[in-house]
This record gives sequence, C-alpha cells and structure tokens, in this order.
Amino acid sequence: MRVPGGIRTFGAVLAGWMVAVSCWAAEGPGQEGAGKTDRPLERTRKTVRMLDDVYKTAVVLITDKYVQDENDFPAGSAAIALFKAIKEKNWHEVKLLDVSGEPYNDENVAKDEFEKAALQKLKSGETYFDRVENRNDGRYLRAATAIPVVLEKCTLCHEHYKQAKPGQAIGMLSYTLKIE
Ligand code: HEC
Repeated sequence: MRVPGGIRTFGAVLAGWMVAVSCWAAEGPGQEGAGKTDRPLERTRKTVRMLDDVYKTAVVLITDKYVQDENDFPAGSAAIALFKAIKEKNWHEVKLLDVSGEPYNDENVAKDEFEKAALQKLKSGETYFDRVENRNDGRYLRAATAIPVVLEKCTLCHEHYKQAKPGQAIGMLSYTLKIE
C-alpha cells in the first residue's frame, strides 16, 4: 500500500487515506485506534530502504571500478551470489529481477503474485511497491524497488538498455523481510 506524501500507515489500508491521516494526526500518547502507527512495519520499511541503498551502491561501485568489458564478472552476478549467502544465513530474502522484458538469465523474472504486481507498478513508473503478507509464523514485508540504467556501462552486456528512457525501470530488487 502506497500513500502520497511518504506517510504510510498500516491503518490506511483499513481506514482509507483521509481517515487514517486525521486519526494519525489526532493520536495522543498511548492511544489505540485504526490510525495507530504500525512501528514494526515502519521499522522494516526503513531496513528495506537501508539495504536497498547498500546493495545498489555496491553494484554501482563494483561496475564502475572493476567491470571494464563484457568478459568481466558482472556486479549483477556478484549480487546474486551475495543474496544467496544472505538467504542461507536466514537474514532476509532479496532477488535481482528483470523488468525490461529481456532478461539476461530467464531465471531472473517475476514469479509469484506479489512480484508480478510489482512488475506492473514499476513498469508504470512507480519506484517502490510493497505489501504485508500474513504467514503461519508471522507477518512479512514484501517490497520491490526499481532499478534504472544507472551507468552507461550497464549497456555493455544489456544492449537493449540503450532504448530505456532516463529513470525508467529495467530491473528490480524484490525483498522479503520478517516484520519483527
Ligand atoms: C559484464 C556484463 C554485465 C554488466 C556490465 C552489467 N550486467 Fe547486469 N547482468 C549480467 C549477467 C550475466 C546477468 C545474469 C546474472 C545471473 O543470473 O547470474 C545480469 C543480470 C542483471 C539483472 C537481472 C535480470 C537479468 O537480466 O537477468 C539486472 C536487473 C541487471 N543485470 C542490471 C544491470 C545494471 C543496472 C547494470 C549496470 C550497473 C548491469 N546490469 C551491468 C551482466 C552484466
């Protein structure tokens, strides 16, 4: 659920935007209500923003400093190896996926219902999409963030990125984090 202005409350899902804002603004200390800020959810969203910045900064740095031609080991492949290690250690799950319609690796595509919905949102110009999922062992935040063609070098291996408009998403990172 995304709400304009950057204010996102879980209550907004139930109460609607206007109601949620008025409850949220009127809320005193310790008050319960539909507009109550969902702190665990907000903390998890903040963690996603932090991780997203760390991962994307690393991929750009590696590409900039180490990748000179198409035979060099791509930062994307390094990221996929890193994500596998992070998942095995049970930290969280994150996947590097295609949005352009022409993946380098056919495995790297939106698979489940959340990722397919995220794909449509990012294609339409949104830069972020998330949803809360209730599972047997608790709540999980699913979140997708857009990847535009950040460097000219990206087109060394992904030829068709040359056709992408500035800022247009050609890929995404798809996160699954437990809300704790
Ligand atoms: C040296 C070649 C190379 C460069 C440069 C490169 N990539 Fe990739 N990219 C790959 C390869 C190979 C894969 C598939 C990795 C895998 O599945 O193990 C990939 C995968 C991806 C994916 C996942 C979808 C897919 O196509 O499989 C995205 C998104 C992506 N790259 C974006 C980028 C961006 C953005 C840049 C520039 C910062 C970039 N790539 C630079 C080679 C490259």
